[in-house]
Amino acid sequence: MLQLPKVIAHRGASAYAPENTLAAFREARRRGAPWVEIDVKLTADGIPVVMHDASLKRTMGVDRLVAQTNRADLPGDVPTFEETIALLADLGLGCNVEIKPCEGREAETGRVTVETLRRCWPASLPPPLLSSFKDVSLIAARDAAPEIARAVLIDRIEEGWRARAEAVGAVGVNTNGRKLTAAEAVEVKEAGYLLSVYTINQPAVARILVAMGADCIITDVPDTILVALASLAKT
Ligand code: G3P
Ligand code: MG
Repeated sequence: MLQLPKVIAHRGASAYAPENTLAAFREARRRGAPWVEIDVKLTADGIPVVMHDASLKRTMGVDRLVAQTNRADLPGDVPTFEETIALLADLGLGCNVEIKPCEGREAETGRVTVETLRRCWPASLPPPLLSSFKDVSLIAARDAAPEIARAVLIDRIEEGWRARAEAVGAVGVNTNGRKLTAAEAVEVKEAGYLLSVYTINQPAVARILVAMGADCIITDVPDTILVALASLAKT
C-alpha cells in the first residue's frame, strides 16, 4: 500500500514562493514538507510541464495558452516535469502528481505523465501518487502504467464517487476538505481508500479533518500545518 505523508505542500510551498516553480519546491523542503503536489500539462509540442492554469497569464503574466506554446517559448520559470523530478530527487521530496490536462488532451497527458515517471522517477524517493479530476486521464495512466498509484480528485463527495474510484483503480480519494462532512470521511475510509484533503491552510481545520479520518492535508503552508498536527499527536 502506498505510504502517504501527513502533509503535502500544494503547488510547492505556494504561500511563500511562486506556485509550481522550482523555488516553491525548494521552499517546501526548507519548511519541512515531505512531499509536494504539482500540476502537469502538455505544451504544444507535447512536453510535460508544471503549471496549474491553461493560460500563462495569471502566474507568468503572458496572455497565451500552454497548449499553444512550444516548450522553447515558455517563460523560464515554468519547469518541465523532468526538471522538477530531478530537483525532487536532489531534495528528497515525494510527489502527488496531479494530471491537469489542457482540453482535449486528457488521455495523452495521462499517458505522457506516467511514461515520464517510469523513465525518470528515482528509486531513492517514495513512489508517487497520481491524481486527476479527469477520469479519462487516470484510465490512460492506468493502462500505460498500472503500477503507479492513483487517486480520484473529487470536489465534493457525492453519489457515484465509489464507482468513479473503482473505474480508475484508485487507492485514494483526494477531495475538497472544506466541503467534506464527517459522515463522508467515514464512508471513504470504511471503503478502504486513502483520504487526502485540499487546500487546507488553517491549523484548526486541519486538526478537525485529521480527527475525521483524513490521512493527508494538502496545504499552501506546510510549516504551519506540520506544527498543528504535531501538537495533535501529543494530545
Ligand atoms: O490536488 C489538489 C488540488 O491541487 C486540486 O485543485 O485546482 O489546486 O489543482 P487545484
Ligand atoms: Mg493541483
